[in-house]
Formats: sequence, C-alpha cells, structure tokens
Amino acid sequence: MEDRIKALAIEVESYTASDMQGVENYRLKYISKKGVISELFETLKTLSPDEKKKSGKILNELKQAAEQKLKALTEMLENNSSATVDIDLTLPPIPNKIGNQHPLTLTRNRIIEIFERLGFNVADGPEIEDDWHNFSALNFPENHPAREMQDTFFVEKNPDMLLRTHTSNVQIRLMTKQKPPLRAIMPGRVYRNEAISARAHCFFHQVEGLYVDRNVGFADLKQTLYHFAKEMYGKDIKIRFRPSFFPFTEPSAEIDISCLICKGDGCNICKQTGWVEIAGSGMVHPNVLKNCGIDPEEFTGFAFGMGIERVTMLRYQVNDLRLYSENDIRFLKQFHSVI
Ligand code: PHE
Repeated sequence: MEDRIKALAIEVESYTASDMQGVENYRLKYISKKGVISELFETLKTLSPDEKKKSGKILNELKQAAEQKLKALTEMLENNSSATVDIDLTLPPIPNKIGNQHPLTLTRNRIIEIFERLGFNVADGPEIEDDWHNFSALNFPENHPAREMQDTFFVEKNPDMLLRTHTSNVQIRLMTKQKPPLRAIMPGRVYRNEAISARAHCFFHQVEGLYVDRNVGFADLKQTLYHFAKEMYGKDIKIRFRPSFFPFTEPSAEIDISCLICKGDGCNICKQTGWVEIAGSGMVHPNVLKNCGIDPEEFTGFAFGMGIERVTMLRYQVNDLRLYSENDIRFLKQFHSVI
C-alpha cells in the first residue's frame, strides 16, 4: 500500500497537461470519486489499525498534493492561453473571397477593350426579337432555305417573335436609328435549337461588329481583324479568311485562327485541321443598307460576328462548351484576366 501511494505521489508530481482536456483527464484519473485516490481510501478501510495509521497519513498527503496539482495545472493553462494569443495588429487582413468573373465575361471585356481603342462604341439590342430585325431586314428572303441555316426558337403565342439567332439584329437596330459613320460592337447572348454537346449549345454568346462609312473596304475588315487577333492572342497568331456565304454580307468570309491548343498539329478542337473558326464576316450587303434607309451608293460597311465561347476556348484551353453554363465552382474559380 505504501509503495503504491509513493509511486502515485511521483506520478502526480510529474503530471503535465497541455490543454484543458489533459487537465480533465488528470482530474478523472486521480481526484474524482472513481479515481485512484478514492479507491485507495476504500482499500484503507480493510487494513489493520496499525497500517491504517501509517498509510492513512501519507494517503491524506497524496490527496492534498493531488488537489493542489489540479489547481496548479488549471492556473498554468489559463495564464498560458492568455499569453499565447499574440495579436499582431500590423498584419494585413485576410482578404474576403468575393469570387471571380466568369471566363466569358473576362473575354467579352477584353474584346470590348480592344475594339474601343479602335474607336468602336458598345451597343445593345433585345434577345427576344421580331422576324424583321433577325431575318428579313438582313436580306434573308421569305421562305428561303437560308433561314434554316440557324435553327430558331419561335415564341409559341406569336410566331413573328423569336429568340435571336445571332447578334446581327443589333446591326439593324443601330442602322435604322443612327446615320453613318457608325462604328460599334454589340456583345450579347444568342439562341439556337441545337442538341447540347461539347461543341454545340442551345445558347451562346457573340460580339457583332459593324463599321459603316464612306469608302469602307474589305481591306479595312481584314486589317481590323488581324489587329484584333494579335491583340487577343499575341504576335505569333495566324489568321486566315475563307470565302463563305451569309445573306447579309457580300462578299462574305469566315475567319479562322491557328489552333492554340495543338499549335497547329491537329486536335479535336480544330478537327485535326490546325485552324479554328472564330467569326463570320463580310461587306454589308447593299440590300441591308437600303432596308435601314442608308444609301449604298454613298456608304459601304463591313460586319463581323464573333463567337465569344470560341475565343474563350482558345484563350483558356477549354474544350467543352457545357462547362460555361454548369456553374461548377471548381471550373469557375480558375479564371483570372490574362492581359
Ligand atoms: N451572324 C452570323 C452568324 O451568326 C455571323 C456574321 C455576322 C457574319 C456579321 C457576317 C457578318 O453566323
């Protein structure tokens, strides 16, 4: 018994605790009603009067020492905890994470920036549009297969209204309201009835460009878009114009840039060609100018319609269109402006 008590006295003496849980463990083990010291008092009752006297004395001493130790441990921790909270008021605050801009927004803003420096204004038009602004005024003949080039969502209650299939409707809205010279870019969302896949979506974004003045020629269109491609992607970018057809431009061209994903070697984004189409373009058709009350003998113009998703895809090497509208935070938080 005496040996046991002496051993415990040493244990108690050397006990250390680094947190409140440690102190509580100490209390449970030694001091509580079910602790070892209480247990020893129980055993004490079974001893002979002689031994009871001897052991009783040192057991009482142990009890006192143990209680003092509990006090000491608690005090030490309390002092320590106030001492370790070092507040450095000179540290900068932890910044509030308020999110990033969407990659399409970053690209749209960059496109706007580039064209604004060339003197283009930003214009806007409705997404729910009538047939005239989206098709007829743009020289799509009535019942002509050209209308089926772009699968259209019509408004059920009024088939004359539709979700615009391109931002070219804003060209018409602008040219009917303002007289040349006109120089504007028109970013916005467009809709087409297409099955959703990595390469196609039922809505996407375009930036329309329009420049109407005296003596505007195809060379102006080319030079403007060359400048754009180099500003957007750097000096090494290659750009090419392919003859194409749009009812509202003549001549028309599709604009490709060298694939930045495979650097021209061929990949699934450029369909193994090394080139990616980013825009349609051309000289504004005289009928379109006439439809808007502008004399095609006096004025000419160029127009282009650029896919913002395409431009973004090449800028950030994203190869699935669906990512842009799924709102997956793991995708969205990766984008920062790259200028
Ligand atoms: N509106 C055409 C499209 O969506 C692009 C375009 C715009 C072509 C302007 C020529 C001129 O495909």
